[in-house]
Amino acid sequence: MLELFDIHTYYGDSYILQGISLEVREGSTVALLGRNGMGKTTTISSIIGLTPPRRGEVRFKGKNVSNLESYKIAKMGMGLVPQGRHIFPSLTVKENLTMSARTRGKDNPWSLDRVYSFFPVLKERASIKGNLLSGGEQQMLTIARALMTNPDLLLMDEPSEGLSPLLVREIGRIIAQLKESGFSILLVEQNLPMALSVADYIYVISKGTIVHQSTTKEFKDNEEIKARYIGVAHESI
Ligand SMILES: Nc1ncnc2c1ncn2[C@@H]1O[C@H](COP(=O)(O)OP(=O)(O)OP(=O)(O)O)[C@@H](O)[C@H]1O
Ligand SMILES: [Mg+2]
Repeated sequence: MLELFDIHTYYGDSYILQGISLEVREGSTVALLGRNGMGKTTTISSIIGLTPPRRGEVRFKGKNVSNLESYKIAKMGMGLVPQGRHIFPSLTVKENLTMSARTRGKDNPWSLDRVYSFFPVLKERASIKGNLLSGGEQQMLTIARALMTNPDLLLMDEPSEGLSPLLVREIGRIIAQLKESGFSILLVEQNLPMALSVADYIYVISKGTIVHQSTTKEFKDNEEIKARYIGVAHESI
């Protein structure tokens, strides 16, 4: 579904991604873990063309998309759940959803009705303005909006950030259901238990390079990597 080959990305003269390679196989959920400022969001924006890599190749569904504009990449079936929930604050829930709608000729597309039955709370809040939603509702709207574009691959950048433990578990359940319904998912997370509960495969990024990759099970057993790059070896997982 998605392959990154030796991606190098800069902000001006700042050399941020220093050769990232990773893969998301069709139907799998891959977690990209790492501490603050290590390059997780830059990886996401390199994939979707918001910060195009200066070197390397991004391949989506077998096609080199490294030099494509981001709206064209999105149209090919890549949905972004951005960090910080960039919903439109002055638009209603329904308007936020309908303005993103794109069916992409799918058999059972994510329509407004289907999204509402997946997120009943958004149906209840349909006519409420975005800025009046709670943090959890805003996060659900952000995910729902990505679904309305009917993507095949979801890029999710810290969907649990700033949410209560209860809501983090709820977001984890939602991601598990999306995985179940066939999406390929690249999940950036700092909440380790949540990420490990849904991911099949783990990459750890530190200072713009991948410092560890393994199955989720191997990662769980690797106390050294967890302590060194995530800093949570003391947590029981
Ligand atoms: N627009 C920008 N201009 C210059 N430097 C930036 C910009 N955005 C991010 N950086 C720098 O690039 C590095 C990687 O940032 P990035 O946002 O990718 O990290 P992250 O892993 O997503 O962190 P977080 O967990 O805090 O979201 C950091 O050193 C950051 O300061
Ligand atoms: Mg980030």
